[in-house]
Amino acid sequence: MVRHDQHGTSNLHLLLGQTLTFTGDPFHTGPQDAVRHETQGAVAIDEGRIVAVGPADNLKTTYPDAPLTDHGEALLSPGFVDAHAHYPQTAIIASWGKRLIDWLGHYTFPEEARFADPAHAGTIARRYFDLTLAAGTTTAVSFATIHPESVDAYFNEARARGLRALAGKTCMDQNAPHALSDTAASAYDDSKRLLEKWHGIDRLGYVITPRFAPTSSREQLEALGALWAEHPEVLMQTHLSEQHEEIAWVAELFPEARDYTDVYDRFGLLGEGALMGHAIHLSPRERDRLKEAGASLVHCPTSNTFIGSGLFDMEGLAKAGHRIGLATDIGGGSSFSMLRTMAAAYEVAQLRGMALHPAQLWWLATAGSARALRLGQTIGTLAPGYEADIIAVDLASTPAIAQRSARAETLWEALFPTIMMGDDRAIAAVYVGGNRV
Ligand code: GUN
Ligand code: FE
Repeated sequence: MVRHDQHGTSNLHLLLGQTLTFTGDPFHTGPQDAVRHETQGAVAIDEGRIVAVGPADNLKTTYPDAPLTDHGEALLSPGFVDAHAHYPQTAIIASWGKRLIDWLGHYTFPEEARFADPAHAGTIARRYFDLTLAAGTTTAVSFATIHPESVDAYFNEARARGLRALAGKTCMDQNAPHALSDTAASAYDDSKRLLEKWHGIDRLGYVITPRFAPTSSREQLEALGALWAEHPEVLMQTHLSEQHEEIAWVAELFPEARDYTDVYDRFGLLGEGALMGHAIHLSPRERDRLKEAGASLVHCPTSNTFIGSGLFDMEGLAKAGHRIGLATDIGGGSSFSMLRTMAAAYEVAQLRGMALHPAQLWWLATAGSARALRLGQTIGTLAPGYEADIIAVDLASTPAIAQRSARAETLWEALFPTIMMGDDRAIAAVYVGGNRV
């Protein structure tokens, strides 16, 4: 149904290009069965939402007066969804030579301490959204710093751009520098106030954010578990089982817990809507418990190779039916681009003996991540009713990619070189809520 504003003119417009719609989860159906592809397709957008997707000729007939934007042979896709990032680490991406614990102490904490200055937070939030939008990411879930102002900076910037965006105040009350430490009570109070201030405003979502078990006391984990119980409508994000040294540290700090997963479980921080970053070195018991609890696992492959963390078991976890998202983990991750992130996911899976299909990679970066965020009916799919966060992807954006995709006989063969070799040059256009940015 075409809606009209009070002057009787429709705001509806059409984007033309190849279209790709996932109709199912390509890890469970065959990759080919989960997809609808139109070589000459169109997407109709009205009032920030997708109202129709189909063959261009059909949509032009249905909406004869609608203005057209022709993206030629570019692929129209949902914008990418980055399920785990640290926007405050934008300026320390690609910092050399450390593993997780030393990397945090050496590079991350000093930079995060600078976010006590709201002007710095504002500068970096602007830079972060400039970089991620250029890379085709239209929704990110970010950790902020312990400073409430760092949450305000992120949400103010996202709101000004009309983005669907999620974030939360990072909470740490032990094993962190004094300047980056809160308390159990202040973490609860600040998180609650920020949640009430921002959650559900325009397209913004608050996320309860204990950094990870080593930097939260039992009292803080308990307080944040209580806050989540009071607000089950928000997500909870943290880190889980990224490096062996970290896991051994957690075992020392929480000897009463069965394992790392159990630390969160004991404090009500495991359940549907929990985003567990990394989740690499899991015992069979932890896998079963995470599955039973309905938590989402977030794979951060460029980070896992860059910091030397390990190889996520995509095959085993996807087969077992875990909800899995894909993420950059900026700035432990080494790229703002979800294309590069898909490439790294492919490489990590190859090192474990699995070849991820391009459909599975693209799904992870869009609908899969959206589902992990409980936004699977809202963003991440090119279908009527979904929010119109759309990118046009040039499948011949560099000479090296163009010469390879020129030989392609299928969509997947045409897309895979861009997955493996593409960057922000492949992102020809970005629409946020139906508006080109
Ligand atoms: N574990 C706790 N904090 C962090 C972080 O900032 N980045 C990564 N990669 N892992 C973490
Ligand atoms: Fe992280």
